[in-house]
Amino acid sequence: MTEPRHFIEIADWTSGQLQRLLDLAGRVRDGAFADRPLEGRTVAMIFQKPSTRTRVSTEVGVAQLGGHALMISELDSQMGRGESVSDTARVLSRYVDAILIRTFGHERVVEFARHATVPVVNGLTDLVHPCQVMADLMTIVQEFGPDLSRMRVVWIGDGNNMANSWLNAARRFGFALRLACPPGYEPDPRILDRAPASRVELARDPERAAEGAHVVTTDVWASMGAEGERKERAEAFARYQVDEPLMARAHPEAIFLHCLPAHRGEEVAPEVIDGPRSRIFREAENRLHIIKAILLELIR
Ligand code: CP
Ligand code: NVA
Repeated sequence: MTEPRHFIEIADWTSGQLQRLLDLAGRVRDGAFADRPLEGRTVAMIFQKPSTRTRVSTEVGVAQLGGHALMISELDSQMGRGESVSDTARVLSRYVDAILIRTFGHERVVEFARHATVPVVNGLTDLVHPCQVMADLMTIVQEFGPDLSRMRVVWIGDGNNMANSWLNAARRFGFALRLACPPGYEPDPRILDRAPASRVELARDPERAAEGAHVVTTDVWASMGAEGERKERAEAFARYQVDEPLMARAHPEAIFLHCLPAHRGEEVAPEVIDGPRSRIFREAENRLHIIKAILLELIR
C-alpha cells in the first residue's frame, strides 16, 4: 500500500488508511504526541473563503504539535494579483512542510497538489469538505463504537460539498447513507455514481429518509459562494428542516450533527441543534484532533 501524499478527497485514501487516521485521531485526543513531533515544521494555510473552525483548529493543532502555522489570505499575497497556482505551489513548497487550502473550484486544489512538492490538505472546496466528514466519523465512533459499517446516516438538504464527502465516506466505510435533497440540489453525479448502490439511496422525502437513522445531519441551504441564491433556495428547501418530528422518526439513540456555522430556524430547528441529541460541539472539537492526525500522517 503506497503512503498517501495529500488529503484532497476521502476516497483518495484506502479504507485501511482512513481507519488508521481515525485511530490516530483518537490517540491524539487522548493525549498522545505531547513530545512536539512537528518541532521546526511549518504549515501554510491559504484561505480564499472565510473560516473559523478550519483555520483555528489547524493553527492551534500545529502549535500543539510543536510547529508553526502561517495564514496566507488571497488579498495580501500575490495570488490576489493573479500569480499562478503552479508557481505559488512550487514556491511555497520550498518554504513550508505542508499546505492547507480552502478555495472555490476543486480543480484549483488538485492543480496545487500536482505542482506542490509537499503535502496538500483540502480545507474545503465547492465539491468536498473531507476534514469535516472525518471529524464527523470520529464523533460517530465516540457515540456508537468503532464499527461504522453498521451505521445508518441520513443527510437532509443540499447535495453540497458535505453531502459529497458523506458519499465518499460511505464508499470507504460501508455504512448506509440516505440523502434527502430537493430536486435540482442533488450531490455531484460523478461522486454519486461511484458510491455503492447497495448502501446509498437518494430520497426526496426527508421524513421517510430519517426512519431508523443513527445519525441525522444537515448543512446550510446556501453554502459559501451561493449566497446570491438565498431566496430561491429558502423556497426549495422549506420542507427540508431537521425538526423534532423528523428526529422522532430516527433511531431512539440518534444523534444530530452539523458542520457549522448553522442557521437556526432554517435547516435546523433550535430545539434540535441545542437539544439533547445534538453533538455539534464535540464534532467541532474533533476538527482539532483530526487535522493533527492528518498532518502527522502526511508530514514526514
Ligand atoms: N465547519 C467548518 O469548516 O467551519 P469553518 O468554515 O468555520 O472552518
Ligand atoms: N457547505 C458549507 C460548509 C461550511 C463549513 C459551505 O461550503 O459553505
